[in-house]
Order: sequence, then C-alpha cells, then structure tokens
Amino acid sequence: MLKQLLHITTFLFTAVLLCSSCNSANNKTETQSSVTDSTDRKWWKEAVVYQIYPRSFKDSDGDGIGDLTGIISKLDYIKSLGVDVIWLNPIYSSPNDDNGYDVSDYRNIMKDFGTMQDFDALLKGLHERGIKLVMDFVLNHSSDEHEWFKQSRSSRASKYRDYYHWWNKEKGTPPARYSLFDVNHDAWKYDTLTNAYYLHYFSRKQPDLNWENPTLRREVFDIMKFWADKGIDGFRLDAFQFSAKDTTFPVFPSGYEKNFVQYYAMGPHLHDYLKEMNQQVFSKYNVMSVAEGAGNSFEDAHNLVDADRKELGMAYAFEGVDIAKPEGYSLPHFKEVFSRWDSAFAEKGWLAIFLANHDQARLVSRFGNDSAAFRDVSAKMLATFLLSMRGTPYYYYGDELGMTNAGFNKIEDYKDMPTLNEYQHQKNIGGDIKKFMAEIKFSCRDNGRTPMQWDSSTNAGFTRGKPWLQTNSNHAYLNVAMQEKNPNSCLNYFRKMVKLRKENPALVYGKYTLLDKDNPDVYAYTRELNNKKFLVLLNFKSKNSTLHTGIDLSKAKTLISNYTTVLASETLRPYEAAVIEL
Ligand code: GLC
Repeated sequence: MLKQLLHITTFLFTAVLLCSSCNSANNKTETQSSVTDSTDRKWWKEAVVYQIYPRSFKDSDGDGIGDLTGIISKLDYIKSLGVDVIWLNPIYSSPNDDNGYDVSDYRNIMKDFGTMQDFDALLKGLHERGIKLVMDFVLNHSSDEHEWFKQSRSSRASKYRDYYHWWNKEKGTPPARYSLFDVNHDAWKYDTLTNAYYLHYFSRKQPDLNWENPTLRREVFDIMKFWADKGIDGFRLDAFQFSAKDTTFPVFPSGYEKNFVQYYAMGPHLHDYLKEMNQQVFSKYNVMSVAEGAGNSFEDAHNLVDADRKELGMAYAFEGVDIAKPEGYSLPHFKEVFSRWDSAFAEKGWLAIFLANHDQARLVSRFGNDSAAFRDVSAKMLATFLLSMRGTPYYYYGDELGMTNAGFNKIEDYKDMPTLNEYQHQKNIGGDIKKFMAEIKFSCRDNGRTPMQWDSSTNAGFTRGKPWLQTNSNHAYLNVAMQEKNPNSCLNYFRKMVKLRKENPALVYGKYTLLDKDNPDVYAYTRELNNKKFLVLLNFKSKNSTLHTGIDLSKAKTLISNYTTVLASETLRPYEAAVIEL
C-alpha cells in the first residue's frame, strides 16, 4: 500500500493536454503555416507552460496562503521568464481537503485565494502581457460539500441522486474498489442517511461524479462554458481518465489495485464523453484544453489526442517522471523511455515534456543533484533537457531557481492529506514507519509545494504571516532576488534556454535522434529541421564523462552552456550541458 501511494504519480498524473486553439493574445500564431509539410504548427506546441501552485506562490494579505492578488503582483516576473502560458491549480471554492481538488462551487473563487474581481484582474493582467491562462478542472469528483452531493445524499429519490455513484446496502457489500487517498484504501463509504455506499476513488470528501448521467454532463459543460465566456484560454482536466465507469461494478481480479490505471482508467464511453465535450465546449470557444491521463498504451494515448478524432490535443506521459527513485535511476532507462515516447509521436500526436508538477517532489532533488556543489549546475542541465526536447515543456514554479525538496523529518510538518492518511494507515496495519518517513522525505508532494523563494527575508518574501507550509531554509541563499543579480544564475539560464527554444523551431519540431545510446552517463541527441541541426549534450553524472558521437566538434558553435568556460569536447564536466549548432 505504501508503494501504491508513493507511486501515485504513475496512475494519476499520466495527463493529456487537450488543445485546439486560443481566443486571447498571441492569436497570430494560430495562422502560422507549416515548418515542414508534415509539421502542423500550433501556438500551444511552441509554448512554454509555467505552472503556479497558487497556495504557495505569493501571499498578499498575510494569512500565510498564496492568493490571486499575490500572483498579480508577480506578473512582470512571470513575463520576464519568457513563458507563454500559465497553468493554475484549482482556485474554486473548496473546503480544502485536497488543496482545492475538492470543489464545492465551480463558479466561485476559494476565499483563501480572493474574489472573482481578483480573478478578472489576473486574467486581464496576463492577457495584457500576452500570456494565456489554463485553468484546472476537477471533473472526476466534487467535494462532499458541493450542493449536488448534499442533495444527492439527502434521499434516494433526490433528482441529484444519480450525479454520484451509490450502491444500496440491501444489494450486499459492493465489489471492492481501491481508493488512492482513503485511510483504509476503501473507495466505498457507507452513509447511514440513505443506507447506501458512495464511491470515492480519492478521499471520502471527494465523491466521484457519475459521468454516465447526461444531466450531469450537461451541468459540467455549462460550467466549462461559464469560464470560457470569461475568456480563459484553456482547461486542464484533472484525473479525467478515471471518470468513465462500468456502473455494473464488476468484480476485479485479485491484485487489481496494483495497477490502478489498467483497471480504473479509460472506462467505457470515455471517448464519447470527450467527443461530446469537444463538440459542446472546445470547438465553440477556440480554447486550449488539458486533461490528465494518457491511458495504458500508445494506442490509448493516440486515441485521445489524434487531431482527426476531435477529442484532445496533446498527450502528457508520466512514464519518464516516475523513473526517479530514492536510490537513484538508470540513465539508459531514462533515455529509452523518452526516446520511445518521442518516436511513438514523431508522425502524429503531440506530447508534453516535464519532470515535475504539484504532485511530485522537486525536479533537481529527484533527477539532478541538490547538494551544494551540484545543485545549480544540475538544475541548469535539466532545464537544457526539458527545453530542447520535442513536446511542450511544462515548468513548475521555483524549478527555474533550482528549488529543492523540503525533506521534512517530522510527520507534523507535512500537510498533504493522502500522505497523512497513509501514515495513519501504516500505523493501523503495523507498517514500517521509519521506512515510510524515509520514502516521503524523498517523494512526498509537499516537497514541491513549499513557498516560492522570492528573497532571503523571513519566509522568503512569500508572506508576512505564518506560511501554510514551512519555507525551505535554503531561501537564505536560493531566491529570486539573488539570482536576478547574477547573470550566471539558474534563473537567468532558464530565461536564456526559453529564448533559445523560441528562436529555433528545430528545438520544438525537429527530428530527434539519440546518439551513443548505451552511454551510462551522458544523454546526447540531435534535433534537426530543414537545414538547421543542433546537438544537445547532457552529462547526468557528478564526474567527468566521455561520449562518442563521431561528430567533429572542432568547428561547432556552442549556443548555450551551463559552464562559463565552453569546451565543446567529448569529455563533459560534472552535469555539463550544452546546445551546439552543427
Ligand atoms: C490529480 C491532481 C492531484 C489531486 C488528484 C485528486 O491527480 O493532480 O493533485 O490530488 O487529482 O483530485
């Protein structure tokens, strides 16, 4: 079970980006022609997405919780990064069992985050700067405090009864279903009020919506239209691959819970629901939409995103993200996974490229090296990777600085609901608590949710109050203010790398060719489009490493390097990264 929780990212966060186009600033890119005959240019393929966890970005009123006015105060910083799109985690009314992923009113703003006026001002401020906004839609479940659920549970005769999944007690015990977040991992919760169980794949406070009900679907599409009418530029569909269910609830084979995606994702009619959503919402609004979940296979992923099917636009594969383990990971495996996904989508479909988000621990702590000696250089190396691969790069707030894991030692310091529930579960079953604590220190998603490090003052300039989650003490030397002043900082490297990508369509659309495939230390590949060819060299190790490409580097031009002295040789220094024009 512990493993189940810690690898939750594999199940949940195989996301799919659904995009068509967008109705705000930068529309000129909509009409862009092809880079090559076979490449269909789209603005969202060329965009760099910056993800903001609103709770942790900037607090304006001193309550210790980030808010919309806080984000507004940092719009010029966001603009300075060169990114094109902001993805905001949920900001709707919520009792916050799961930090906003339990929505009690889809048409209002969470009190902690501000008001609808603040939202309108944020959207305006973004659009004035040519930045688009993608909102997070939680549609697999609502909060148990949503009016729909309150009505649904009040009576078996309620017209809202079928908005959720109920199993009447007189039918016996419902067939086992696994809950990812429940303290007992039981997805059925018995409710005395109507003598029935309701289904919740996540926490008890997140009952699953019944997508098989056309009335519910209409309500959801109306909500999406409400936001689209406000002028937002896109939707991320949270955990959507779990929405469709076989409501006969067949018995799953024993051991089913070990493969949540296989048994719970891509249920019957999921494609029909997506087609309906596309027809009802996306096609009408010219919006980019993002859904989480690429299914179980390349075939599933293609079925979700191939443009002619009119469902989603972009696949978000999590196989790569799940490679990092506390004991380290194998670079050949990492290369194999990213190369395999690239080749499966080389001709058709499109992928997101990312190594971190709000459900992961920090990028540099998992895939780089967060020791004092190598943090900066390895964070830059990872930026070089993410911003030179095919696919739309997603960058999570703070990763542009090389922010690291919080690595809390005491359970009291953690706030993440599933982590606290799992801790209780482990205690209940007499599990190995020491092992659990070591695992969460590396993997818990709170590691990636600590306050943004703006400066070296108390609480990193995030809040004048007490932050909802402890600030990482390394903000004393790892913060925006200090990195702004240093031309060689991680932050400034990130900006240069974003610029390099945007100036070179070959880094977006170009053919990817892996070199020196079995090299255990270096990741090297070329990106090629028309008459432009780039070589990307990445040393993933803390030692000098040599590679063999057979390419004569003597006349090559290094466009960017994470070392101040550029060598352009086949021996790379620790975590050295370079993009070289051939
Ligand atoms: C998604 C979100 C995650 C949330 C879960 C339940 O996977 O990314 O943060 O906890 O859905 O809504």
